[in-house]
Formats: sequence, C-alpha cells, structure tokens
Amino acid sequence: MSKPMIVCHGGAGHTAKDQPGVDIAADTGWAILSAGGSALAAVLAAVEIMEDDPVLNAGTGGRKRSDGSIQLDAAVATSDGRLGAIMAIEDTPNPIHVAAGLLNEKIHILVGQGARDWADERGYPKATVIGSDSPSANDTVGSVAIDSNGLMAVATSTGGCSGRPRGRVGDTPLWGPGLWIDENIALAATGIGEEITIKMLCHRIAIQTGTLQERLEYGLSLFDPSIEVGLIGLTAQGEGLGLANTGMPWTIRSADQ
Ligand code: GLY
Repeated sequence: MSKPMIVCHGGAGHTAKDQPGVDIAADTGWAILSAGGSALAAVLAAVEIMEDDPVLNAGTGGRKRSDGSIQLDAAVATSDGRLGAIMAIEDTPNPIHVAAGLLNEKIHILVGQGARDWADERGYPKATVIGSDSPSANDTVGSVAIDSNGLMAVATSTGGCSGRPRGRVGDTPLWGPGLWIDENIALAATGIGEEITIKMLCHRIAIQTGTLQERLEYGLSLFDPSIEVGLIGLTAQGEGLGLANTGMPWTIRSADQ
C-alpha cells in the first residue's frame, strides 16, 4: 500500500488570487484518491476543473494566439508507461480528456486538425473556446498524483503563451521538458515553454539524485531568474512539492495535509 497524494498547480506567473481554482481541483482529486480511486482518475478530474476555470490558462481560459485563435495543448502519462498528448487543438474545452483517450492507443501524440478529427470520430465534446484576453504570457495547469496501489500519474494542460503564432507548441505537452513520469517520480513544469523545452527540464530533474526539494531546486537553478518557471512533483517515497522562481498557486493533499 502506498500513501495517496495529489499536487496541483495553476501556473507560473499567477498570484494568490488564482489559488481557489487550484484548491478546488486538488480537493476533487483528493476525494477520488481517498475513496480508493486511481491516480489517473484524480489528475484528470483535477485538470478538468482547472481547464474549466476561466482565470487559468488552459481549456476555457486559454490565452489567445497572435491571430486571436485559441489552440490548446494537453498531455497525460502514467508510471506504468502510458502517454497521450494533444497539441494545438481547437474547439475543445477539455483537451486533457482527448489526451487521455490516447493512453491505450498505439499512437501517443496528435496535433492540430488531425487531433480534432480523431476526437470527433470518438465523440469528444466540441465547442467554441472563448479564451482569455489576459496578457499573461506564461502559465499552464498541472497535477501529479499517486494512489494506494502505488500507480502515479501526471497531467498538464495549457493555452500556451499569449501572442504566439498558430501552430506553436510550448513545453506543456512535450514528454521530457514539460512532463515526466517513471516508477520513482512524477513531474510537471510551467513557465516559458521555449526555455523549458530547450533545457529538457523535467527529464533532467528526474535523473538527478537527492530529495525532491533538492531536485526541484536544481531544475530552477538552470534558468536565469528573469525567466518564470515553476514545477510540481511527487515521488514514490512519499514526497510531494511545488516550487517556482515566481508566483505560482499550488497545493497538496494527502492524509497528512
Ligand atoms: N508553458 C506553457 C507554454 O509555454 O506553452
């Protein structure tokens, strides 16, 4: 038996005013975990809540591209070796569920209209995403969890950075920079996607030794402080934490918290 835990964040660059949606997401995920549900179900439920929160940059609150369009990215992965990622999808308020639909497929990643076509064939909800005019340049939502069976999951979702061109993909749905999971650690990043991608951030943290705190501190140390970056993580040993070099609403739920 493992000790269930969930950690959620609402994006680097946000302030405490955006904490409530993150708390609701964590409470929802924790209700699933504490009732014996899976880490995968918990992170999907938590991210769905944050995608539906118009102040957070994911799903409904996705920031606009330079042409005013809303293109969303999302990814989910599990410690038993499954991955699903969707990039630059339109008309999809909850891309995290489309990403989860790929977990048990032979393909792992779909982009753009091809992703939406695949979602249409399987009946995933399609609706115009209004998006947010907030000038916020960088933020994302994410969740990591471990369940009583020791299975871990990570889920991430974003509208990307405001004003980037159509088709641009940041770190959030990228396996290695924006999220990582193995049998020991689950990690999700937030911040300037280009900077996080070039540093292959989450994977580099995963291969470090030390406590989770030391490993997240190592990750932040790779960046100039002017580049906003945040991380959440948990380990199979029962550590859970959020850390950022800027404001980042985050929270943790376990039997101890
Ligand atoms: N970290 C979100 C993005 O750059 O797209």
